[in-house]
Amino acid sequence: MELIVAHDRAGLEKARSSGRVALVPTMGALHEGHRSLMRVARTLADQVVVSIFVNPLQFGPAEDFSRYPRTFDSDLDICAAEGVDVVFAPSADDMYRPDRQVSLSAGRMGAMVEGAVRPGHFDGVLTVVMKLFNLVGPQVAVFGQKDAQQLALIRRMVADLDLPVEVVGAPTVREPDGLALSSRNRYLTPDDRQRALALSRALHAGAARLSPAAVRAAAEGELAASGLVADYVVLVDPATFAEIPDDFRGEAVLAVAAKVGTTRLIDNVLIAF
Ligand code: PAJ
Repeated sequence: MELIVAHDRAGLEKARSSGRVALVPTMGALHEGHRSLMRVARTLADQVVVSIFVNPLQFGPAEDFSRYPRTFDSDLDICAAEGVDVVFAPSADDMYRPDRQVSLSAGRMGAMVEGAVRPGHFDGVLTVVMKLFNLVGPQVAVFGQKDAQQLALIRRMVADLDLPVEVVGAPTVREPDGLALSSRNRYLTPDDRQRALALSRALHAGAARLSPAAVRAAAEGELAASGLVADYVVLVDPATFAEIPDDFRGEAVLAVAAKVGTTRLIDNVLIAF
């Protein structure tokens, strides 16, 4: 089947199938992590729709919206190679009415951890994902564990707003040396690329410890030793993103964020207690 590229709502409407639809929302600059989500989606539905949209609403004024990598032609090649049925790539004007008023709030959870460093970011993410759900009408949508708080908030949005969409999480894809794949990795100089390994090393060091306190200390120690200044190192409940107590039983997320050169990177691992 030929890949259909829809640049606006009308094109998407024409391409939509009556069968089971899986949506993979992305901002393009596609890599192996995105490809893994497409492969999961392929197993879950008859029609796989990938959206490619660099969402202005989720970038702060001092962030990298204008320089975010845009690699549309090679993105299309990747989608075709993964057997994607439809790429939905609207323009910002098509997505957002100039007089729009109403948007979603990610609430208190959206102001924690990553949201504390990027005010309004998760409001923008939820607003665009809600619009994509409404436009595409998927039965299932696939998101990466790489953005753990985003995944948690999308699950929360679906529950709180009774959305008829099943949310599936997929594991983080890494380079052989541990660096989590990210569209932003292409900003890294060779020197930055080496220094960026401190994030996954810190997670690895933390995951080898037994108590929450020891996990936090090991991860912080590893980052400090690398000379990177972290925005945060947190050990949180994956569903609420609240810090876990020392007697916590179950699965927690150890999450880190740090600036490497001019590039801000995030990473996390799941740890069972
Ligand atoms: P983007 O950063 O392009 O990521 C699209 C999807 O790919 C997200 O679900 C993200 O978690 C997943 N992903 C990124 N790197 C990954 C990796 N190394 N392994 C596995 N999955 C990975 O996240 C966004 O776009 C946007 O916020 C979006 C949800 C599209 C809303 O604009």
